[in-house]
Amino acid sequence: MVQDIALYYDELHRWTAKDKEFQVFSGHENDTIHRFLIDPETGAFSPGTIYRFIDPYIAALPAVRGLDAGSGYGGTCFRCLGVHGGHWTGITISPEQSAHATGIAKARGLEDRIDFHLLSYDAPLPGRYTVVIAIESLIHSADPARTLANLAAALDPGGRLIIVDDMPVDKVPEADRSYLADFKLFWRCPVAPSAAGWIAAAAVAGLRVIANDDLSHLMQPRAEADLDAAFADISAQAAQKAAAGFSRLWEAEIGGLHLERLHRRGSIRYAMLVFERA
Ligand SMILES: C[S@@+](CC[C@H](N)C(=O)[O-])C[C@H]1O[C@@H](n2cnc3c(N)ncnc32)[C@H](O)[C@@H]1O
Repeated sequence: MVQDIALYYDELHRWTAKDKEFQVFSGHENDTIHRFLIDPETGAFSPGTIYRFIDPYIAALPAVRGLDAGSGYGGTCFRCLGVHGGHWTGITISPEQSAHATGIAKARGLEDRIDFHLLSYDAPLPGRYTVVIAIESLIHSADPARTLANLAAALDPGGRLIIVDDMPVDKVPEADRSYLADFKLFWRCPVAPSAAGWIAAAAVAGLRVIANDDLSHLMQPRAEADLDAAFADISAQAAQKAAAGFSRLWEAEIGGLHLERLHRRGSIRYAMLVFERA
């Protein structure tokens, strides 16, 4: 499973290098692969908006030692080092992402303050942390309780875990269940807990929830007719992309369309959960 997720992200990396439109969508300009959100103050639709919500929970901590669990190209580490200082570590299971992020750290002369590891968030972690951030990464966990226990064990007392992710509502309407099932399959998210599911698993790991913010209203899901048209368009390109060596791309794209539809219908929420270790 983890190997398949690594291949999936390595393939997306190769496609991102090739496709200019996909680069914009992915937030490549600030080294992220996470959702664009509307900034509530400026109205800008940006991958940087999320930090407006995360920052206050890091600023309150002394001497930051941060871990980005599922760090992609390292954008959150680079950005948080610039704003909060300290030392940041990123872990990803994608060799392409790890090499890319390490290369950026080296080019920027930040190797003594940021390091990246090719490592799962379910494996023993390389240090102890005052804060762990996980943006759109823990949804891939095959065993969220185990993943949270591992991350919590690496947090100092009083340290914080910040999760930002897509979280299905507790009772997904019948009409949306097949979209949800296909989204989970295509995006390699075998469990995809609800917010209540994450909070319950975190409690077992000794983590107390201190914030539960629904950020869904800051997204811009397209109208269903537009999603239908995009589905037809992407499906028509699937064979050609597979022949060019991008067989997983169709799943990533269709999974994204299903996710957008589920957001539009309110069956999935985009939420930030913040936990504190006792
Ligand atoms: C959608 S990307 C988000 C990347 C980054 N958090 C960001 O905001 O740009 C999901 C990330 O989760 C990572 N990931 C998935 N499963 C993982 C695991 N078991 N351990 C570590 N990272 C994992 C992927 O390698 C990828 O970097």
